[in-house]
Parts: sequence; structure tokens; C-alpha cells
Amino acid sequence: MPDTVPAPSPPAFNPLSPEFIRDPYPYYRMLRGLDPLWRSPFGYRLASRHADIAVILRDKKFGKDYAGRIRARYGDDAMKEPVLRHMGLWMLSQDPPDHTRLRGLVVKAFTARRVADMRPRIQAIVDASIDRIEPDGAMDVIKDFAFRLPVTVICEMLGIPDSDRDNFFEQARDADGGRLLDPVPMTREELDKANERSLAALDYFRHLFALRRAEPGDDLTSQLVQAEEEGQKLTEDELVANINLLFGAGHETTVNLIGNGLLALYRNPDQLRLLRERPELTANAVEELLRYDSSVQLTGRTALEDVAVGNVTIAKGESVLCLLGAGNRDPEIYAEPDRLDIMREKIEPLSFGGGIHFCLGAQLARLEGEIAIATLLRRLPGLQLDDIETPEWRPTFVLRGLLRMPAHW
Ligand code: HEM
Repeated sequence: MPDTVPAPSPPAFNPLSPEFIRDPYPYYRMLRGLDPLWRSPFGYRLASRHADIAVILRDKKFGKDYAGRIRARYGDDAMKEPVLRHMGLWMLSQDPPDHTRLRGLVVKAFTARRVADMRPRIQAIVDASIDRIEPDGAMDVIKDFAFRLPVTVICEMLGIPDSDRDNFFEQARDADGGRLLDPVPMTREELDKANERSLAALDYFRHLFALRRAEPGDDLTSQLVQAEEEGQKLTEDELVANINLLFGAGHETTVNLIGNGLLALYRNPDQLRLLRERPELTANAVEELLRYDSSVQLTGRTALEDVAVGNVTIAKGESVLCLLGAGNRDPEIYAEPDRLDIMREKIEPLSFGGGIHFCLGAQLARLEGEIAIATLLRRLPGLQLDDIETPEWRPTFVLRGLLRMPAHW
């Protein structure tokens, strides 16, 4: 279409409506076609093209402006809400130099080498999980399988004692990290619940720090407690907030990588068959599954000065929601983007973001996804999902995942 023909404006949408949550991709396709940097009536732009998103995530002229975005969503008193104050201390919410300082304290635990060394332990956790459920002949894949792996791994990395883990499984299943991050504000009731959870987490982590001060171990919490004691490096509030971030970011997204990934495979039986016949394709399949139905659908940035993106100028102070899930299906990058193809080459999903906030746990999530999916398909060859047509999705926009996934074998 020539540039001179004005494109019609995209229709507004409700990102929490069941239709959108069930399948956001037709809407993304329309947005990309009509106005890929749409200034929406919600007060922020929506970026839906791969190229624009990649630029926005990497350009230093964009930042997080957490306080500004939260005020826009919840009003001037937003920071009086404990959960919103707490989230403001996450490295994920910060710009340099605070972001650099906080990320620098934990980055070593997530290098490719350190993560590769975790392979045997991850395999053992997955095998133990399947040993436990196999005799039952049925399970909820989300609750009984997908949750256990990332929660166990992150608890071990953080040095959370075995005796406290059951509590964490409960909390993890109840938690709704997605709503905390959604651009659609939480209701008062949701906020109250989130405040309560945040204060309880704070209490628990303070108790864990006391334990790790007394008995330091080879875990991330001990390292961070030591950094706090050395002074200047981080405050206790930052310590609590970032341990809590690692716990949340470390499991909810990976649970959904396993859940969304299995659903996509079962909805595409030819690809499932291919993967069963050629399990050596699993690492590539995980990249494609991340691209095809990402567990993180968007992340926001604010222009710190006027910035040109393509032929659009984004004004200082404007917020842009980068629709990672839309960029992942951009036909300018991927041929037949709506087709699942586990042999696709050169997959570079935007699912882990980009630039300075690029997901710290990307290698870990990939490895967990690969081992979980490969082992499940190998050890339960008769596994059938009971509802691939109308599964129940979690009611959030940012984090995409299933509430449950009943299955039998
Ligand atoms: C499939 C699984 C995962 C997905 C799709 C995912 C996605 C993302 C994305 C998109 C971001 C960047 C957000 C932004 O730019 O604003 C991010 C950041 C982050 N992720 Fe992940 N993540 C996953 C797993 C994990 C795991 C397993 C961990 C830790 C154990 C983790 C820890 C973090 C942390 C700490 C950040 C903040 C990094 C920073 O601000 O510098 N993630 N993740």
C-alpha cells in the first residue's frame, strides 16, 4: 500500500478479555499492518514490529521510568502501596547506574557455563518428578509437573531450605505476577492481596537472611547478604526486593514455557511426532516454542528524550509497550510466522527481551524447558492432553500461561 493512503486506526481492545487472552495473535497481526507504533487511547504506544522493538529495547534513549509509569497507572499515592514500592527496587524496574549495580551482583550465577553445570541436577529433578507422578496415570501438567522444576531450581539457587519449599510451591501456584506487571491497573482487591503477599515475602526473606548470615552457604542469598554487609553495594530493601524478583521471574515464566510449549506441540501433531522421532531437535524446538507463544508477551519503556524510531518520533515521556509476542510473529523476519516449525533456522525470539535488561535467566530457562519437554515425551510416550481446544488461560496480558492442563497416559 503506498505511504500516502492514510491507514485506518486500529480498534481499541481489552487485553484482559477472554477472547484476546485465548488468542492475541490476530490482533497483533492487524496492529502491525495498520499502525506498528500505534499511539493507543490507553495513553501509551504499542510497538508490534520486530525491528522497532529490537531498537527500542537496546536504545539508551529509552528507560524504565518506573515511578512515572506507576503514577500514571495508580495515581500520585502509588508509592504508598507496599507492593508497588517494593517492585520499584527490582533491577528490572531500574535504569543505570542502579540497574548496573544490582545486576552486577548476581550476574555471575547465571553465566552460560554455570548454567550448563546445572544440567545433571535439572535432569535429576525432572526424573524424580516423573517417578512420583507416573503411577497415577493422570496429572495436571502445570501443577504437578511444570511448577516443580523451576521452583525447585530457584529455591536451590537461593538457598531456601527444603523444609520451607512446600510453602513456596503453594505460594508460587497462587501468585499472579502477571497482574502486577499488567498495564491494566489492578483492582483495589487485587492490590490488597498483592500487598499482603509482598509483606509476607518480605518477612520470610528477612528470616532467610538471618539464617544465611549465621550459616552462609554456596547460594545467591548468602552472596547478596555478604554484599549488603560489605556496605555501599545494596540496601536491605533492595536485597529483599531482588531476591523476590529472582524467585518470581525464575519460575512463573518457565512454568509457562513448558505449558505453552506442550500445548503448541499437541496442537501441531506433525511437529510433536517429529520431536518424538528426533529428540535431538529439542533445543531448537524450545527456541521455536519461545517464539511461537512466548510466556512474556510485552515489556514497557519510556522515551527519556525525543527519539526517532523508523519514521516516527516518540516524544520524551511517552511510554511504549513492546509487544514481544507480536514481534515474534513478524513476517518480515519469519516466513509463515503463524506456523510452528521446530526445524526453523535462525530463530531469535524477542521473548527474553534485549539490551541491558536482557533476561538474566535465559540460559537457565532454555535448559529447564529443553530437559522438561524432552524427558516428559520420552518417559510418558502415551501422554495425552485432555483439553487442547479450550484450555483455561491465566487472566493476564503480560505473562501468558495456562491455569491448568489436565492430562493422562
Ligand atoms: C521462559 C522463561 C523466561 C522468559 C520468557 C523471561 C523473560 C524475560 C524478559 C522479557 C525480561 C526483560 C524484561 C524487560 O526488558 O523489561 C526478563 C528479565 C529478567 N529475567 Fe527472565 N524470563 C524467563 C526466565 C527467567 C528465569 C528462569 C530467571 C531467573 C532465575 C529470570 C530472571 C530475570 C531477571 C532477574 C530479569 C531482570 C533483568 C534485568 O532487569 O537486568 N528469568 N526476563
